[in-house]
Amino acid sequence: MADMMWAGRFSKQVDEKVNAFNSSIAFDGRMYRHDIHGSIAHAAMLGECGIISKEDSLEIMAGLEKILDDIDNGRLELDPNAEDIHMFVEAELTKRLGDVGKRLHTSRSRNDQVAVDLRLYLRDEIKEISGLVDELINTIINIAKEHTETVMPGYTHLQRAQPVTFAHHLMAYVWMLLRDLDRLNDVSKRMNYCPLGCGALAGTTYKTDRFYTSEQLGFIAPMQNSLDGVSDRDYCIELNCTLSLIMTHLSRFSEEIILWSSWEFKFIELDDAFATGSSIMPQKKNPDVTELIRGKTGRVNGDLITLLTMMKGLPLAYNKDMQEDKEAIFDAVDNVKLCVRTFTPMLATMRVIKENMRNAAAKGFINATDCADYLVKKGMPFRDAYKITGTLVAVCIEKNLTLETLPLDEYKRMTDLFTDDVYHAISLDTCVRERKSYGAPSPEAVIKQIQEAKDCLSKINE
Ligand code: ARG
Repeated sequence: MADMMWAGRFSKQVDEKVNAFNSSIAFDGRMYRHDIHGSIAHAAMLGECGIISKEDSLEIMAGLEKILDDIDNGRLELDPNAEDIHMFVEAELTKRLGDVGKRLHTSRSRNDQVAVDLRLYLRDEIKEISGLVDELINTIINIAKEHTETVMPGYTHLQRAQPVTFAHHLMAYVWMLLRDLDRLNDVSKRMNYCPLGCGALAGTTYKTDRFYTSEQLGFIAPMQNSLDGVSDRDYCIELNCTLSLIMTHLSRFSEEIILWSSWEFKFIELDDAFATGSSIMPQKKNPDVTELIRGKTGRVNGDLITLLTMMKGLPLAYNKDMQEDKEAIFDAVDNVKLCVRTFTPMLATMRVIKENMRNAAAKGFINATDCADYLVKKGMPFRDAYKITGTLVAVCIEKNLTLETLPLDEYKRMTDLFTDDVYHAISLDTCVRERKSYGAPSPEAVIKQIQEAKDCLSKINE
């Protein structure tokens, strides 16, 4: 076996099992592009500051570009036996350039290297996830626009409560996702500071220029404390929190789609391309996509707990425990992307069954509050009106009627304030149309809300 990088200090080869156990290239290999970009910026800085010669700096940079190109185009494969992506790239450079390659690691440690790689990698991933969430938001808004008049029951405790519209219901998710998008922006801004140059933990005695590398790599500024720079992973945790929230929102939405596509509701039907059948029951059409999203939410939350638990007892600065950060945050990122990518077209192609929504809204006394409000508008205190309406509902249930079909004399038996305009006041359409308070489901209010959401989206994207 080849000598390890640190062979000088050791009198024995490291046990094979330890090598395999330590190696992270199987999962950090995906950061090769970011690792090489970080190294190019470092090499440029070493040259600029006269720490290595200009010629060496240029040769190293060109060598790194070539390695990047070779990996990108399949001419160079990552060595699964390398300890990690950082060691692999450096070893490859040295193999190609000889002594010049050995100068790259001057004034640098894998500790600041891995920290900068991960920030660069996640910065790109956040951009991609934001794009996917943006697309999802636009898809929901487009469906909502078609359904500002589609009446459906609104629920509390999964019991029919008050009438809303499908557009109003959908827009609730738009606001949740807009906040998620804003959170992604926040995380991205807060993590966009450069740890490169923090060294192993205590900076360096070379006259480096950390502002130079920070700018080269598109960071806002270098991190101010070298110990902090190499040893916190709060940005992974914060990102995972946001990813967990995205999954939570998708999971609740998924749960509703699962309910809505059941025969018990039948508010929607999924497109055949986004549903699955059963191996035994020929009649089945299952909402697997949404169930899988609900399931994967647990896994993304698990990644968050992995990160929080991994960090909680670590003394400053770097500890090898921190190598565990990558599999967790990569898993969270990968799964969120998978979920949003599948959820959006599933939503865009689902069929909305308006009649069933309306029929459900017509049952279950969801206009009872409006009936009480009718009496309040005629001068009765709300509590008395509430009690009378409750009694009327009980009468309806006993006679198998609804508030719409209950005869006027039954109303009048309770109070003379009832006249035949009560039927207009409690009709479903009135109940929805009159709910025009700010943020409420009336078509007029929802059209305004849709415009506000679009404005909010453009502001977040600025
Ligand atoms: N593979 C390591 C990680 O992911 C890189 C940093 C190694 N640093 C060290 N001092 N062993 O954390």
